[in-house]
This record gives sequence, structure tokens and C-alpha cells, in this order.
Amino acid sequence: MNSLAGRRILITGISRGIGLETARLFLAEGAELVGVGQNAARLAEVQHELDPTGERVTVVAQDLARVDAQKRILAAVEKRWNALDVLLNNAGIQIDAGAHGLVDGKEATLVRSMEVNLMAPYRLSLALLPLLARGKEPRIVNVSSGAGTFAAMREAQIASYRLSKWALNGLTLLLSGELAGKVAVNAFDPGWVKTDLGGPNAPGSPLESARGALSIVTLPFSETGKFWKDGREIPF
Ligand SMILES: NC(=O)c1ccc[n+]([C@@H]2O[C@H](COP(=O)([O-])OP(=O)(O)OC[C@H]3O[C@@H](n4cnc5c(N)ncnc54)[C@H](OP(=O)(O)O)[C@@H]3O)[C@@H](O)[C@H]2O)c1
Repeated sequence: MNSLAGRRILITGISRGIGLETARLFLAEGAELVGVGQNAARLAEVQHELDPTGERVTVVAQDLARVDAQKRILAAVEKRWNALDVLLNNAGIQIDAGAHGLVDGKEATLVRSMEVNLMAPYRLSLALLPLLARGKEPRIVNVSSGAGTFAAMREAQIASYRLSKWALNGLTLLLSGELAGKVAVNAFDPGWVKTDLGGPNAPGSPLESARGALSIVTLPFSETGKFWKDGREIPF
């Protein structure tokens, strides 16, 4: 029950779904959190629910697709800890309409998907590197998807989502190489679970994803550059 005692963790997409359930589990395991979402009113409710004393959770309302979003998030983490142990890039969107692929879909869908699912984790990771350098066994975990594997690129539908998650997997590999020995960088498939994004027919629950996330942030620090699901390594 104390596997994350004192760990300083930033979770994006904390306002609902997998991020919210992960925040609950991480707090139960002793972590301290900064959480990011877009909707300030919703974040205030979440903060009150997670941490009525206001001592263990700080929230930052920010649209991660904005090119300067990382500046306010960096400032909040600097003020809180001036260091960071874990960046969990969890916030994500799946906005492909119906059965559209790249050919019949809209360019704006791909651009927005890339902004939120790829560019935001990229910008946030780079902005937070100086704070991660002051962290204990620092690590970045990118919440990816089974829809973003190499094999899944041969499947139709949700093409913008697939491409953005495939690119996120690439970002994971590139950063893990560049940051070897300094920051562990891994990707995580949370499975298909019931959330606003996953929909009501998903077979799993966000708690299962949260347990998966816990297994990644408690991996030995030497584990880096890998893709994980349910505590096991899977192919990119
Ligand atoms: N659910 C699944 O079956 C499934 C499967 C595979 C992978 N995933 C991945 O798991 C992660 C979490 O998914 P979920 O199912 O929990 O989704 P969700 O229920 O739709 O929640 C998405 C979260 O991301 C935040 N977010 C979205 N766009 C944002 C932006 N521009 N700026 C800041 N925050 C933003 C949302 O905040 P607001 O409420 O403020 O918008 C919300 O907290 C995503 O990366 C998703 O791709 C999910």
C-alpha cells in the first residue's frame, strides 16, 4: 500500500477516465500529485474529491494542445517540488469520426490528434527534463494504445488516432535512447476500458488500467525503451 511513498508525479488528463482512476490509486500508494486537465471547474471538483486537505494534489487547467501549455505546468511543478520523479503523459483524444481513414477524413482531425497525443507529450517531456534531472530514478511514461502498434497500422478506421499513438511510440523509443541512464522512458497500453474515450462497450475498467500504470512506474529504473501492457512487455 505504500509503493509510491513520497514519489512526486505529474499526471496529465487527471479529470476523468484512466487518469482519474490512476490518481486515486497512486494517492492510495502514497504519491504526491500534480494533475492537468482542460476544464478548471471539473479540476476543482476532482481536487476536492482526491485531496480534501489540499496538501497532496495540485491541479493545473491547461489545453495541452497550446504551444505554450508546458510553461504554466512547469511553473506549477517548480513551485510545488522544484523536482519531478514521474511524468505520466496520459491525456489523449480519439476524435476520428465514424469509419473515416486518412483519405476521407479531415486534415484538422489529424492535426489536433497529433497536437494532443504527440506534440504535448513531446513538449512537456522536454520542458520538464531539468526537474526530472533533480528527481529520484526519474521516468517518463507515455500512455499509448494497442491501436498504435506497427501491426495495427494495417487496420482501417481511427486512422488519425492510430498514427498519433504510433508516433508517440516512436517518441518513446527516441527519448529512451537519448536519455539512457538519466530518465527511463516507456510506453504503456492501458487496454480497452470503459471511459468517455473507450466507450460503454469496452470490456475493461479504468481501475485495471490504473493497476497497469502502477506496475510501470514501479519497474526497475533500468527498464527503458519498452512498451508494456498488464505488467508485461509487448511488441511496439
Ligand atoms: N479508454 C480506452 O479504452 C483507451 C485505450 C487505449 C488507450 N487509451 C489512452 O488512455 C489515455 C486516457 O484515456 P481515457 O480513456 O481516460 O480518456 P478520457 O476519459 O476521454 O479522458 C481524457 C483525459 O485527457 C484530458 N485531455 C484531453 N485533451 C486534453 C487537452 N487538450 N489538454 C489537457 N487535457 C486534455 C481530459 O481532460 P478534460 O476533461 O479537461 O478534457 C481527460 O482528463 C489516452 O491517452 C488514451 O488514448 C485509452
